[in-house]
Amino acid sequence: MDSHVAPYPPELAAPGTSAAAFEPLLAVDELPPGTMRRVTRGDLDILLANTPAGIVATDDRCPHMSAPLSIGGLDGCVVSCPLHEGRFDLCDGTVVQMPTTGGLDAEGTYHPTWSPAGREPKVDPPGLKAEARRLTRVRRLRYYPVRIADGRIEVAVPR
Ligand code: FES
Repeated sequence: MDSHVAPYPPELAAPGTSAAAFEPLLAVDELPPGTMRRVTRGDLDILLANTPAGIVATDDRCPHMSAPLSIGGLDGCVVSCPLHEGRFDLCDGTVVQMPTTGGLDAEGTYHPTWSPAGREPKVDPPGLKAEARRLTRVRRLRYYPVRIADGRIEVAVPR
């Protein structure tokens, strides 16, 4: 199987990874192109994805409200979250589509709520929940260094 590691923006490395030891998480054969898997180490859920750019490892937590991305969809480099339609490019770390709930992007710019075509807009009565949605920031994806050795996917996991 042709498997290689995708590059990622160095400023998006997860904290602690520069000093972390690589450990085998999965056999390469268990992650065919176009698939995703969750692998858990301690309290860290890691998303492994085999994208057209190569294999990436990031948190298996949506950068919006922490839903498991591993049960979302993967279309090329773009993972879609199962909760609020957020879509994120795993190959460059960018937000492709903000969540339906709106909120803040990583820079702190506010984005309004929205509804997918054909669906009635959800009325968001003013109150604490609306305020929480408005103030929730979609964070940047954080990446874990990956290497392939002896047919296994190894990831630098901070402890
Ligand atoms: S938790 Fe993923 S888009 Fe909201």
